[in-house]
Amino acid sequence: MIFETHAHYDDDRFAEDRDALVASLPSRGIGRVINVGSSIETSKTSLLLAEKYEHVYAAVGVHPSDIEGLNDETYEWLRSQTKWEKTVAIGEIGLDYYWDKEPEVQEKQRYWFLHQMQLARETKLPVIIHSRDAAEDTMKLMKEIHAEEIPGVIHCYSYSPEMAEEFLKMGYYIGVGGVVTFKNAKKLKETVKRIPLTSILLETDCPYMAPEPHRGTRNDSTNIPYVVAAIAELKGISEQEVMDVTWENAKKLFSKVHA
Ligand code: NI
Repeated sequence: MIFETHAHYDDDRFAEDRDALVASLPSRGIGRVINVGSSIETSKTSLLLAEKYEHVYAAVGVHPSDIEGLNDETYEWLRSQTKWEKTVAIGEIGLDYYWDKEPEVQEKQRYWFLHQMQLARETKLPVIIHSRDAAEDTMKLMKEIHAEEIPGVIHCYSYSPEMAEEFLKMGYYIGVGGVVTFKNAKKLKETVKRIPLTSILLETDCPYMAPEPHRGTRNDSTNIPYVVAAIAELKGISEQEVMDVTWENAKKLFSKVHA
């Protein structure tokens, strides 16, 4: 079975077939799914999906590009949602300097990233971190807040193998998805080769990031076997081992998920 650690099935691109698709996942080898919030609105819809499907769990949090939706009131709402048994993580949270280049906006991103890290610490939940074009600041803030005391994953990992080793030192997992199947993904392939399988989580970030041979189309969790095959080939191990070990990794990190 495959543990899908990062999906957005509440996205509009699933409007037509969402229920049929999500309901079919366990019979197609996808045993567990974490639907990840990226705004207050999508945190709510993630909770609804987790309510509806036994195999789906929710992460609640606000993505750096959606922080205008955060204030004292919505932050308290996030906190109140962490108590539910199927809320298993805070995420996705982090820094995105690719989309937001203004220093003022980036300052606000850092403020809410730290606050949501703090929420994870208080509620004893792991974090799902999104970090794009912001490696230095992500690392700096994580050191500042002692992220080694807050378990988590760097989702859709896009930095260097050396940087990955720095995250591993803090106990973090590396989220690997469709990009690892792309021909030009040299850095990620090198990272996957270099880090232990016990530090890797499987994910899609669907509807985005479809692997080869479906690159550019709507992604969903049933494409994860292409990611599994790529990891197995890079590491010279069996696909079964990739599925088994990453399943255990995800269970360990997201400890509120029922086995
Ligand atoms: Ni995502």
